[in-house]
Amino acid sequence: MFRDNIVESLLGKTTQKRKSRIPAKLDFLQSATGLILATFILFHLIFEASILLGKDSMYAITKMFEGDFFIEGGSPIFISVLASIIFAIFILHALLAMRKFPNSYREYLRLRTHAKLMKHSDTNLWIIQAITGFMMFFLGSVHLYIVWTQPQNIGPFASSDRVYSDMFYPLYFMLLVSVVLHAGAGVYRLIMKWGWFDGKNPKSNRVKTRKIVKVVTTIYLIMGLLSLITYIKIGYEHKSEYGKRYVPTTEVRDEN
Ligand code: HEM
Repeated sequence: MFRDNIVESLLGKTTQKRKSRIPAKLDFLQSATGLILATFILFHLIFEASILLGKDSMYAITKMFEGDFFIEGGSPIFISVLASIIFAIFILHALLAMRKFPNSYREYLRLRTHAKLMKHSDTNLWIIQAITGFMMFFLGSVHLYIVWTQPQNIGPFASSDRVYSDMFYPLYFMLLVSVVLHAGAGVYRLIMKWGWFDGKNPKSNRVKTRKIVKVVTTIYLIMGLLSLITYIKIGYEHKSEYGKRYVPTTEVRDEN
C-alpha cells in the first residue's frame, strides 16, 4: 500500500476520487430547459392575446401555426408536433427540478424557518417556484395533452368553446397565475445565478433587474387575464352554437 502510494506520487497520480461533474451538468440542463420553456411562454401568451385584437387576428395566428404559409390551408399536425416537443421538455424540466424538492416535511419546515429568520427574499422566491411548479405539473399536463391530441380544436370559437362551455376557465386561471409567477421567479433566479447583467456594479444592477422582472411579470398577468376574460365572453356568446367553427371576415365577404 505504502509502496503503491509512493509509486503513484512519483507518477503524479492521486488516489483521491474525482468529484462527480454530473450534478453540475444536471443543474445546467435544468437552467437550459427552464429558459426554453420561459421563452416559449413569453411568446405563447402574446400569441394567445391576439384575441384582444379580434377574432380574425387569432384565426390568422392559428393558421400560421398550422403552416398555411407553405401548405394550402395548413395542417393541425404541426401544432401537435410542437406540443409533443414542448411536452417532452416540460417533463424533463420537472424531473430535474424534483431533485431539489425538500425530501420530508421536516426539511420543508427547516427551509421555511430559514426564510423567515433571514427575511431572505430569494429563499421565498424558491418556495413560490416550488409551489407553482407543483401546480403546473398537473394543470400544464392537462392543457398540453388536450392541445397535443386535439390540435384541430384551436381557433377563436373552438378555443372559446373549450374555455367557457367545456369549463376550462378555472384551470386556465390557475395555470396562468402559476406559470407567470413561476417563469418570472425562474428567470430572475437564472439571471442572479449566472450573473448575466451584473456588469461593473452588481449590487445596483441586481436591484434594477428585480424591478424590471416584477414589471414584466405584472404586465403578463394583466395581459393573460384580459385574454382569458375575452375567451370567456366569446364562449358565452357562442354557447348556443357550440362546435361551430369560425369563418374569417375575408371569406364571408368572398362568399357574398
Ligand atoms: C405547443 C404547446 C402549446 C399549445 C399549442 C398551446 C395552445 C394554447 C391555446 C390554443 C390556448 C387558448 C385556449 C384553448 O384553446 O384551450 C392556450 C391557453 C393557455 N396556455 Fe397554452 N399551449 C401550449 C403550451 C402551454 C404550456 C407549456 C403552458 C404552461 C405550462 C401553457 C399555458 C397556457 C395558459 C396559462 C393559457 C391561458 C392563457 C390566457 O387565456 O390568458 N400553454 N394555449
